[in-house]
Amino acid sequence: MTQQLRRRKARIAATWSGILAGVAAAAAMTTVMAGSAVAATTLGASAAERGRYFGTAVAANKLSDSAYTTILNREFNSVTPENEMKIDATEPNQNQFNYANADRIVQHARSQGMQVRGHTLAWHSQQPGWMQNMSGTALRNAMLNHVTQVATHFRGQVVAWDVVNEAFADGSTGARRDSNLQRTGDDWIEAAFRAARAADPNAKLCYNDYNTDDWTHAKTQAVYRMVQDFKQRGVPIDCVGLQSHMNNQSPYPSNYRTTLSSFAALGVDVQITELDIEGANATWYRNVVNDCLAVARCNGITVWGIRDSDSWRASQTPLLFDNNGNKKPAYDAVLQALNNGVTPTTPPTTTPPTTPPTTPPTTPPTTPPPGTGGCTATVSLNSWTGGFVATVRVTAGASGTNGWRVTMTLPSGATITNAWNTTRSANSGTVNFTNVSYNGRIAAGQSTEFGFQGTGVGTGMTPTCTAS
Ligand code: G3I
Repeated sequence: MTQQLRRRKARIAATWSGILAGVAAAAAMTTVMAGSAVAATTLGASAAERGRYFGTAVAANKLSDSAYTTILNREFNSVTPENEMKIDATEPNQNQFNYANADRIVQHARSQGMQVRGHTLAWHSQQPGWMQNMSGTALRNAMLNHVTQVATHFRGQVVAWDVVNEAFADGSTGARRDSNLQRTGDDWIEAAFRAARAADPNAKLCYNDYNTDDWTHAKTQAVYRMVQDFKQRGVPIDCVGLQSHMNNQSPYPSNYRTTLSSFAALGVDVQITELDIEGANATWYRNVVNDCLAVARCNGITVWGIRDSDSWRASQTPLLFDNNGNKKPAYDAVLQALNNGVTPTTPPTTTPPTTPPTTPPTTPPTTPPPGTGGCTATVSLNSWTGGFVATVRVTAGASGTNGWRVTMTLPSGATITNAWNTTRSANSGTVNFTNVSYNGRIAAGQSTEFGFQGTGVGTGMTPTCTAS
């Protein structure tokens, strides 16, 4: 019997018993552990309990594949368009922008309450023909226009952008990679970051690269020095993306945690942005997750595809699901690591009777205890003339939460236009923001975040949090 079928049957049984039908849905997300601890049963839910996201690269043309979207919607709470936001896709002809495929992915993500990472605004690769043939000031201006237009189009919908991708050379020099963009002058990277900040002041702006996992490598050190320099000079940078494509030539390095914590110590978030591991070595996957969890500012992990057959290097079978969508041992290792070393128990397999019994069972099915320690919420605002983005941090009390609701009254004239990682009851006035499926369960003392964008002025909102 498939796990999904088992869960469905578990839900039917609960409804049939007339007991706690709502809790049955929650039980599909988590299973009861020994004692009162609970372990989430999907990657996104588990990561959310640790205050992080777990994402995947998504290809627009696979959104019509139901086997693909079933796994996507069940397991992940962040998506990165694999190719659809790249320069050749979004500006195929100069100043003619095409967002159709990227918008499809964003819409899908929003319909599922998932966040979106944008990839990528400026890169030497996957440039459209017109850009490949440009140089000098014309290229610099075209690049800046591209950054501005694309970041503006997705403003409020993309949580973090890979502003610049792969700008450093491999090998021992620590030099910049030669490219047409690099030849416009060393300052092309900071110029791209400044343009991105101006276009979308609320997106986290990341520098993203590969072969930057090993702390001792010249390329890692070179990126580190650049980020350090940017922070010192006030160039707007918020995060560093480690692609972390690992194989025998680029193995998991024992100093990976040092790399993560060293970047974090510069005052930036660290995100693992394109994780895949040749042969899906479960130990390496587990190590990567544990290292991220050990660094407070490592706030999310994205794998570069769902099933092996979806991978850019499919023959190396580097992902968490096989070609048929079955979970691989690496999946179990990742989930267990996210669950703090706890393996979720298998849901009960008992088949419910087909007719209701005459006497209802006296003992309700075991369900997670309701959170009794409450929750708190804080709101931070990023405002501009005529609009704002509010980021709300929900922190569980001593008992953790099974679900939460944050109530806030918006100032007169303020209207919500978009929200993420939450369901809202209204767009103005007093609004209840409720958890979505993957972020209701927060371990004691841990946090999760949701946000919304609005028009008008957002100052003066006081959130109150109710746990369930
Ligand atoms: O869509 C066309 C199809 O119409 C055509 O028939 C076919 C013929 O080659 O090409 C298809 O496009 C391919 C596209 O993937 C979609 O499958 C491109 O040729 C191919 O170059 C492209 O590869 C992508 C690669 O970036 C390009 O550099 C991979 O999907 C994508 O996974 C990969 O992602 C990169 C990250 O952006 C940056 N870090 C490294 C990572 C892996 O290379």
